Amino acid sequence: MADYEIADLSLADAGRNKINWNEGDMPVLLGIRERFRKERPLKGLRISVCLHITAKTAALMRTLAAGGAEVVLVASNPLSTQDDVAASLVMHDEIPVYGVRGESLDTFRSHINVALDVKPHVLCDDGADLTSALLQRGLNAGVMPMGATEETTAGVKRFKAMEAQGVLPFPVIAVNQSLTKHMFDNRYGTGQSAIDGIIRATNLLLAGRTIVVAGYGWCGRGVAARAAGLGALVVVTEVDPVKALEAAMDGYRVMPMLDAVRIADIIVAVTGNRTVVGPEHLAELKDGCVLANAGHFNVEVDVAALEALAVRIEQPRTHVTSYVHADGRKFHLLGEGRLVNLVAGEGHPPAVMDMSFANQALASEMLARNASTMAKIVHTLPQSFDTMIASIKLQAMGIRYDVLTTEQDTYLHSWQEGT
Ligand SMILES: NC(=O)c1ccc[n+]([C@@H]2O[C@H](COP(=O)([O-])OP(=O)(O)OC[C@H]3O[C@@H](n4cnc5c(N)ncnc54)[C@H](O)[C@@H]3O)[C@@H](O)[C@H]2O)c1
Repeated sequence: MADYEIADLSLADAGRNKINWNEGDMPVLLGIRERFRKERPLKGLRISVCLHITAKTAALMRTLAAGGAEVVLVASNPLSTQDDVAASLVMHDEIPVYGVRGESLDTFRSHINVALDVKPHVLCDDGADLTSALLQRGLNAGVMPMGATEETTAGVKRFKAMEAQGVLPFPVIAVNQSLTKHMFDNRYGTGQSAIDGIIRATNLLLAGRTIVVAGYGWCGRGVAARAAGLGALVVVTEVDPVKALEAAMDGYRVMPMLDAVRIADIIVAVTGNRTVVGPEHLAELKDGCVLANAGHFNVEVDVAALEALAVRIEQPRTHVTSYVHADGRKFHLLGEGRLVNLVAGEGHPPAVMDMSFANQALASEMLARNASTMAKIVHTLPQSFDTMIASIKLQAMGIRYDVLTTEQDTYLHSWQEGT
């Protein structure tokens, strides 16, 4: 059996059921797995994967292993690990896994170190934690990975910062930037699963309640749309005038956070930024407000400020921490301010992770074949991959669509013919 540090091996069979159920809605990734099994494009590569340890990630791990890679999985968040899935990967797939739901930050960091100590050829990052830790260790050219892939918006920002500062040591493929990733995972995945996490944690009725969505990017659009669909009154806060205008024309009220906190029943921060709900907002926050974060890192809601103003802290339900202010107001923080969809729910539905992880698998294959000739910058996958992934997904969904006639194709590539 593989090396591991997980919660409980006896959960393995429950985990296998969960993984198999999720794979039932991941036809694109399973198709790639079949090809990988025949072609073995990742043979001889060690890939260290730092992702949320969920059933969907397990499907990716099985796919990378089918491609011939030696894989290690470590948690990308201390609170998102599904312990049954971790157990199943160790027991039934012989994949080394390091992650325990609720692990301390020290343990989390020690697992990141395990992923680097195996001297991986490829890093599969989520939030750039592996690469950031590698750079902070000091680089050793002898054991330099050939490249990395990045799963999320927050990580792409960090990789772009490394590129701008000239410290990016290898090519990085920003999987998040593929259309078949962010248009579906960030929008429909976060849209559904963040609302699902809030409901699982609180059992609140959203209809008629005011929900404030901070950030109207790919994730924010999804969260706002799904909240509106459940009858909530949606308010959007933004710092980008174009996105603020888009939110207004999509039919939502737009206002500064300082105004929004006075009417908010629920706030969901999904900006990728820090201190979106900070001390000045807490001073004005409506009694009973529920605070949730769906952005990658746990810095969007200022938890330290919440703690500082509390005269009492209560735990009324799993995943709900209530902070009682001296003036009697009570605020409810979900999932310790970490990703609400993964802490209080199961994360994104497999139907969207199918496409995200199809992109991940193809990105690893691209590095395996081309890393030595790729510039040490942040790359995106070719658009032809999006077309292929979307076509397979549509086919699996039983949806047919039109194709251009030769006449139409010629017209679209010409300039002579007008009115
Ligand atoms: N919960 C999940 O499972 C999940 C999934 C995908 C991405 N993410 C994370 O969610 C975050 C957002 O991702 P995205 O793809 O929507 O990014 P995005 O860049 O498309 O959108 C972020 C938006 O937030 C706005 N913003 C920044 N600072 C703000 C502030 N102080 N107040 C209000 N708005 C502000 C930006 O202008 C931008 O429009 C990232 O951290 C990303 O990694 C989470």
